[in-house]
Amino acid sequence: MKKLIFATGNPGKLKEIRAIMGDMDMEILTMKEAGINVDIVEDGKTFEENAIIKVKTILAALPEGEDALVMADDSGLEVDAMDKAPGVYSARWMGEDTSYRIKNMKIVELLEGVPVEKRTARFVCTIAAGEKGKEILVARGVIEGKIGYEERGENGFGYDPIFYLPDMSRTTAELSPEEKNAISHRGNALRAMKKKLQKK
Ligand code: IMP
Repeated sequence: MKKLIFATGNPGKLKEIRAIMGDMDMEILTMKEAGINVDIVEDGKTFEENAIIKVKTILAALPEGEDALVMADDSGLEVDAMDKAPGVYSARWMGEDTSYRIKNMKIVELLEGVPVEKRTARFVCTIAAGEKGKEILVARGVIEGKIGYEERGENGFGYDPIFYLPDMSRTTAELSPEEKNAISHRGNALRAMKKKLQKK
């Protein structure tokens, strides 16, 4: 069975990947499970660049003769009233060790006085996938929402408690994991990538 190595150590992401890619007749492994240990320098200016950097770094670290499909994602939050920040810096914004409670409160504070129609934001996820010597495929998924006025909800992670979905009258932190996966940027990007791989 062909191996699919996904560049993540995040168990939540892996669960989502297994749920969506599980029927593709591939053995899905993390980098660690595949025995790969490399430092990845995410210095791209876009989500696409970073996802491609991750795939290329891992492909270069694969042992001779290993023809696995390598997949990686890069994601983040774009807030229109903040010139699309934090964007590719979402994890590092205000410092990697700063709690999301503080980051979320800062975004709400920065948007003080911004009317509801200008509070638009989106989570973006780009997935890159490639094999040694072959072209790298890229797929993108987005979920549109608005920045709320306070944190709401206990599910999810990161910026979820302030990411409000007007159609559902809830933040993504108030959705169950299944509800979020069905509409999320990562779910959408994974489904788009699956289609591309099935067409090959
Ligand atoms: P990465 O793609 O794992 O590097 O994620 C980048 C960062 O974007 C995360 O650390 C979060 O700050 C943010 N982010 C990405 N996806 C989500 C999401 O689904 N909910 C909340 N925050 C997210």
